[in-house]
Amino acid sequence: MYIAAMTATLPICVYGADGAAADLIARGAYLAKAGDCVACHSSPGGKPFAGGLPMTTPMGRIFTTNITPDPETGIGRYTQAEFLRAVREGIARDGRNLYPAMPYPSYAKVSDDDMRALYAYFIQGVAPVRQANRASEIPWPMNMRWPLKLWNLVFLDKAVYQPKKARDAVWNRGAYLVQGLGHCGACHTPRSPTLNEKALDESGHAFLSGAALEGWFASNLAGDHNTGLGRWSVEDVHGFLKTGANAHATAFGSMTDVINHSTQYMSDADLNAMAVYLKSLPPARSDDGPPYAFNPKTTVAMLTRPAGNRGAILYTTYCLHCHGADGRGAAPYLAPLAGNPNLLEKDASSLVNVVLNGSGQLVIDGMPAPYPMPAYRTVLNDQEIADVLTFTRQSWSNNQGPVAVTDVRKMRDTGQ
Ligand code: HEC
Ligand code: HEC
Ligand code: HEC
Repeated sequence: MYIAAMTATLPICVYGADGAAADLIARGAYLAKAGDCVACHSSPGGKPFAGGLPMTTPMGRIFTTNITPDPETGIGRYTQAEFLRAVREGIARDGRNLYPAMPYPSYAKVSDDDMRALYAYFIQGVAPVRQANRASEIPWPMNMRWPLKLWNLVFLDKAVYQPKKARDAVWNRGAYLVQGLGHCGACHTPRSPTLNEKALDESGHAFLSGAALEGWFASNLAGDHNTGLGRWSVEDVHGFLKTGANAHATAFGSMTDVINHSTQYMSDADLNAMAVYLKSLPPARSDDGPPYAFNPKTTVAMLTRPAGNRGAILYTTYCLHCHGADGRGAAPYLAPLAGNPNLLEKDASSLVNVVLNGSGQLVIDGMPAPYPMPAYRTVLNDQEIADVLTFTRQSWSNNQGPVAVTDVRKMRDTGQ
């Protein structure tokens, strides 16, 4: 009654409030993109945010949950405080500890203001979907959640992001997004045996220095000349996050999802801030090797007379028409292999995986990439894949070690 009376007498105020609420929801929608919530909380062919995506953990598979506002199966009954606690501290409404496959150690940095916008969006801006959650496949006793409380005591830093006074607003915005909602470290920072990321910000040497995960190697994003972003400009990093490709590299593996669902939708100001922050990271590796310098000569000569070199013959037959004799591809559509940081990385799992299984399709502004990397799983055997990759690792001054047949076999068998 009281509210009805207020609405009747104060229409302007109410419209103003509606506008503010709509703005808050729109801001929450943008932040949900920055946090890439949809990538994990949806399953292929399923409704957005209804959960059900399997995630592999060392103890067994778990499934993401329904975070639509359905009161029975989703988060419709969450209060704002409960939502904040779940996203930043990993504690569900019923007090159950969430597995850190939900990147709450990163989301812990998200400000109260941004959390309120996210809550408004998830409760009022997302369509409710009735879909029951699936139980985890982790067997007893490993499925007990209380040890996570201890894990959180040791590894969870509950402080939201604190701006660094010595840095400007752009750098701080970039740091906030990369460390917080972007949860870039969840993939790009190596983990300890206790599964925590070795560093959660630039004060730790290992931060974003590259890590193996689910069959891919999430590249080194520190300042290293060869394996990191040392040779990229701020504009190069910005362009990669916006379109998935630049003169140095083209996105593949799990990075394709990040670009498809998240970074392409971020504003130029935010992408620039993230690029400025990433480019401020010093080199992280002591084994980065002498600075890469492009020299195609020996390789191009070998490719004109490949007889006797099995890798060169395979490259000429299957790869040359896209990646070129000089290994430079045709940026930004066809990834260069010469000097590509992923080729200069010791861990070759990304290379083996992309040749076996091809690349998920990059979709920018609704347009699929024109020439995605084909899958050679049924075309080349393990020895051939090892040979052609060894050739690409040792050509155009890439100077990296050979790829072992056993590594190709292992990757083929896991199906990843
Ligand atoms: C890398 C994957 C991943 C991303 C990204 C992710 N989540 Fe999650 N989230 C999970 C998993 C896995 C669980 C369930 C964990 C468990 O069962 O212990 C979960 C659980 C939750 C829960 C608890 C829901 C319940 O069942 O009670 C909430 C709330 C939540 N996530 C919100 C979010 C929001 C908001 C975002 C984006 C800002 C997000 N998540 C991004 C993986 C993810
Ligand atoms: C789900 C895991 C995952 C997340 C989250 C993720 N990345 Fe990646 N990223 C990868 C993988 C795997 C690669 C290697 C494949 C490639 O180069 O596209 C990669 C590659 C990259 C590259 C290209 C580097 C190179 O040398 O080719 C950049 C730049 C990058 N990521 C930036 C980011 C930023 C910034 C974030 C956070 C907003 C982020 N990534 C979040 C998995 C991830
Ligand atoms: C139809 C064109 C095409 C052919 C043929 C092709 N590739 Fe690719 N390759 C691509 C594209 C495009 C990418 C970038 C990822 C994407 O967008 O799918 C890529 C990516 C790669 C990468 C990852 C490098 C990076 O950082 O992006 C490697 C390694 C690779 N290709 C090796 C090979 C090898 C070895 C062969 C031959 C057996 C081959 N490619 C044949 C188009 C091709």
